Amino acid sequence: MKDDNRVSEGDINDTDARKAWYQQLSQQTRMVLQRDADVFLNQTLSSPCLQVLKESKGTTFTDIENRVCLDFHGNYVHNVGFGHPEVIQAVTDQMQSLSFSTRRYTNLPAIELAERLTGYTHSLKRILFAPGGAEAVGIALKAARLHTGRHKTVSMWDSFHGATLEAASVGGEAVFRQHIGPLLPGTEHVPPPNPSECPFKCGTHCSLQCAGYLEYVLEKEGDVAAVVAETVRSSPFIPPPEYWKRVREACDRNGTLLILDEIPHALGRTGRMFTFQNYGIEPDMVVIGKGLGGGIFPLAAVLTREEINASVKGKSIGHYTHEKNPVAAAAALAMLNIVEKENLLERVEYLHRYAMTRMRKMQQRHPIIHDVRGLGLLLGIELRDPQTGQKLLREAEKVMYYCLANGLNFKLSMGCILNLIPPLTVSEQELDTAFTIIEDGLEALP
Ligand SMILES: Cc1ncc(COP(=O)(O)O)c(C=O)c1O
Repeated sequence: MKDDNRVSEGDINDTDARKAWYQQLSQQTRMVLQRDADVFLNQTLSSPCLQVLKESKGTTFTDIENRVCLDFHGNYVHNVGFGHPEVIQAVTDQMQSLSFSTRRYTNLPAIELAERLTGYTHSLKRILFAPGGAEAVGIALKAARLHTGRHKTVSMWDSFHGATLEAASVGGEAVFRQHIGPLLPGTEHVPPPNPSECPFKCGTHCSLQCAGYLEYVLEKEGDVAAVVAETVRSSPFIPPPEYWKRVREACDRNGTLLILDEIPHALGRTGRMFTFQNYGIEPDMVVIGKGLGGGIFPLAAVLTREEINASVKGKSIGHYTHEKNPVAAAAALAMLNIVEKENLLERVEYLHRYAMTRMRKMQQRHPIIHDVRGLGLLLGIELRDPQTGQKLLREAEKVMYYCLANGLNFKLSMGCILNLIPPLTVSEQELDTAFTIIEDGLEALP
C-alpha cells in the first residue's frame, strides 16, 4: 500500500504529483521515457525518469523538448559545471595518447592525481581509485578489517553510502536495505548528529548526546573496526562544531578507525578541499567521488593513513580494472586546476553568504520556511507547518514540480527539504534566477 508520509534522502517517485508531472510532457518525451522504463532494471528512487536530456553545459541542461533547466542537483558531479572546456580538452588530449592503463602498469596522470589529492591532507598519504563511490566505500571497509583485525562497524541511521551490498549494510536508510536478505554482520547503527531532527530532542541546546551515545556503543562493543559516517549529510544536516572532535577522540580511545564519506561534498563544495577540514580533525580514511571526475568521468577514491597501507600489503585488498585510468585522472586533474585557478574555495564562501542572505529574506516572507541552512554550496530550505512543526511533504513536492516545470532542477531530501546543489562555478545571476523560481513556487501554493 502506498504511504504518502514516506521520506527518504531523495524524492519519492510514485506520488500523485509525479503522475501529474508526466501528463504535461510531450508525446515524444513520454515515448522515450517508456523505452527507458522497458529496458532498464528499476532503480530505487531513480526510476521512472523525469525527462530525457539532450545537452548539458555549465549550470544547465537542455531536454529533448528544448527546455533549459538550471541544475541544482547534478548528482553532485558538476562542481565545475557540465562540459567545462578545460576538462573536455584534457580528456580529449589524454584519449589521443594513452586511453587506458592496463593493470600491472602505471601512468603519469594517475600518479600526479594521487600526489595532488594526498597533498591536500595532513596524513592521508595513500590512495586507491575506483570507478564509483560505493566501490571505494567497499575498499575502505576491507582496509579497516585488514588494519584492525576486527570486522564490526558503527554507522548512522539515515545515512547513505552507496548501493552495493556492503555499502547498503553500513547505510542507514530502509529503502536501500529492505528485501535483500542478510546484510554484512556486525554493522551496528546509531542516531545521526542531526540538529534539525535530533532524536534526543536537544532543540537549540545541543549537549551532544548523539556523540555520547556513539561513545557508549564503542566502549560497550570494545572491538569495533571503524566508525563510518558522512561528515555532513547533504540534505543538509550539519553536525555541531564539537561533534567530530568527540568522535575522533572516542575512536582513538577504542582502537577504532574513523572513515568519513565525503563522496558528494569533498573537493570544494563546503569551502574546503575536504569537508572534515571544517571541523579541525582528520579521519583515518576519507572516501571521495562524484565531482572528482570533473563532471565527465566516473571516478572515486579512498585516501588512507600510511600505516593502513602497511597493514593491507600482501593481503586481500583486491585490485580494480579502473584503478589507474589515465583519462579519468586527466579529467580530475583538470577539475582541480579549475578549482585552484578560479579560487573556487573562496568563491564558495562568498556565494554561501550571498545565497544565505537571499534565503533568509525568503524565510521572512514565507512562514512555511521553517529553516534555511547550509555549508558552502550545500544548501537547504526546510518547509514545515508554522503551527504544528509538521513536515510539509506535499507542499515541498508541489514546489519541486513547479520549479522543474519552470527551469530549476533540485531534489527533495527527507520529504520537506529543498536540497540545493549548484555548481561551484554558478553565477550570482543564476542563483538569483533559481531563488526567484523557488519563491514563485512558494507563492503558487494554494
Ligand atoms: C554520501 C554518499 N556516499 C556514497 C555514495 C555512492 O556513490 P556512487 O553512486 O558513486 O556509488 C553516494 C551517492 O549518492 C553518496 O551520496
